[in-house]
Amino acid sequence: MCGIIGILGKAAAAPLLLDGLKRLEYRGYDSAGIATLVNGHIDRRRAEGKLANLDTLLQRDPLSGNTGIGHTRWATHGRPTERNAHPHATSRVAVVHNGIIENFQELREELEGLGHKFETETDTEIVAHLLTRYLDEQKTPEEAVAAALPRLHGAFSLAIIFAGRDGLMIGARRGSPLAIGYGDGEMYLGSDALALAPLTKRICYLQEDDWAVITADGAAIYNNGQAVTREIKQTALSGALIGKGNHRHFMMKEICEQPAVIGDTLQVFLNPLARTFELPNLPFDFAAVPKVTILGCGTAYLAGMVAKYWFEQVARLPVEIDVASEFRYRAAPMLEGGVTVVISQSGETADTLAALRYAREQGQHIVSVLNAPESTMARESDVVLPTMAGPEIGVASTKAFTTQLTVLACVVVAAARARGAIDHAREAELSTALLEVPARVAEVLNHDATIRDIALQVAEARDVLFLGRGTSYPIALEGALKLKEISYIHAEGYAAGEMKHGPIALIDEAVPVIVAAPSDELFDKTASNLQEVIARGGRVIFLSDADGLRKLGDKTFAAIELPKVDPFVAPILYAIPVQLLAYHTAVAKGTDVDQPRNLAKSVTVE
Ligand code: F6R
Repeated sequence: MCGIIGILGKAAAAPLLLDGLKRLEYRGYDSAGIATLVNGHIDRRRAEGKLANLDTLLQRDPLSGNTGIGHTRWATHGRPTERNAHPHATSRVAVVHNGIIENFQELREELEGLGHKFETETDTEIVAHLLTRYLDEQKTPEEAVAAALPRLHGAFSLAIIFAGRDGLMIGARRGSPLAIGYGDGEMYLGSDALALAPLTKRICYLQEDDWAVITADGAAIYNNGQAVTREIKQTALSGALIGKGNHRHFMMKEICEQPAVIGDTLQVFLNPLARTFELPNLPFDFAAVPKVTILGCGTAYLAGMVAKYWFEQVARLPVEIDVASEFRYRAAPMLEGGVTVVISQSGETADTLAALRYAREQGQHIVSVLNAPESTMARESDVVLPTMAGPEIGVASTKAFTTQLTVLACVVVAAARARGAIDHAREAELSTALLEVPARVAEVLNHDATIRDIALQVAEARDVLFLGRGTSYPIALEGALKLKEISYIHAEGYAAGEMKHGPIALIDEAVPVIVAAPSDELFDKTASNLQEVIARGGRVIFLSDADGLRKLGDKTFAAIELPKVDPFVAPILYAIPVQLLAYHTAVAKGTDVDQPRNLAKSVTVE
């Protein structure tokens, strides 16, 4: 899930490549590099760590040349050092790569046997050497690429430039996304249209196993030995760089945007006057759907977990849910007429995409809940239900999660109506509850200062537990995930009732236990679990409403009062304090909130 960009330009490529990489840094920030053709020779600048280091290097030691490629890396093979940074090059060719070449070891041994010397621990370097071997055999660049691609196993998108061939760039994709941008006498390659948006709005997405020979005049695209044509589309993505506003971090900005973006998302699916829910034309009738399968990764999966409770309780529809990275290994038989709901912020997550394709092969209707309407998943779905979160830059997902929940809530109510599981009166009640969510979320955000104080204590902990029941259980898991990924504190989410089956052994005064418990029909049971924690000296941080706090607030170490709402929408609200807690804990610990170590925003490798 690295970011790649290529430019065949009329002016110096390096500044444009660097700018494009800024827009791709969400894909990885272990190292970055640029290669250009300078008087026909390949020249490179590479730097370990964030893009800012490459920027500094380029200011000290600029790179000329109008033809170039750039890369921002999320390390798979080889540590994140300068030596392992892309572009990888020989004297004849330079390559940037996103994905994994699975058979690199055997190709490397073959080429070492032919005298090739490798400098890095990466899988990508093999591509540069394989192409060099074919060029040494007098093949043209086009012939060399045509010969090399079938020998590569795994997933890749590639951008390649060739010494002595100014004005030529070759791109290829299998498994990982790659887009061609058409400029005015200039051509571009990019991992996504977002990277190219300031340069051009005319974008062509390569399809599986396409490769393209790009010159200033345009692109010739090939697939399976045949020349093919691919549609050039106008992208709607904005070329503007997104700022942090008055906030110190993107994550905080995105947390604060939630009232607005949840409102924007509701507008798409909810008619506030009729108080009815409207989905786009579906190629199936929910009344006839035997089962829904929900797939996603990480936070997106947890949104799906909330939706499982909703679908079953409100729409009386059987649901199966799995993490996308495991689902297809089960070879799950899927019911005819079933609907698969995939959830993804980026629309590019390799595991989710593979699971989507498996479900498609099994004859499922594919409905996707996506924040990237121009993504690969969008193109491969029957119906796209957009989250209106806008670009999410912080690596830890916040507003994407709550807008995913918002979309899923609307789908569930629409499905419930279609199945006759609820009447219009209940539909209207749920619509009112949802329409109030933006205002209630804004109220929760007012607890920011209190949560910041609590976070100072949490920052001291080595382990943290999150507990919840029903739809609060996925929120507990989400709280633990958020805290782990940005503060690096070990955290676990548990179904509150499971605690006595094992994790209660962990409880002592050093372990903060965050309990999410709206005063719904499950409250009394969660309250008993909370008492069990308190009895063992555990420090409970209690998230509940006024009724819940009245019953238990004085027994807890700290308490946050959330608004009393219809239990159906509670998980959307309870997501906010766990986000704020993770954020302030990370700030207190001084970690890199927006770009936590080892992570990337878009995970395009399996
Ligand atoms: C956690 C987080 C990740 C993503 C996961 C799926 O804060 O952001 O767990 O939710 O990598 O990504 P998408 O939604 O792009 O498929």
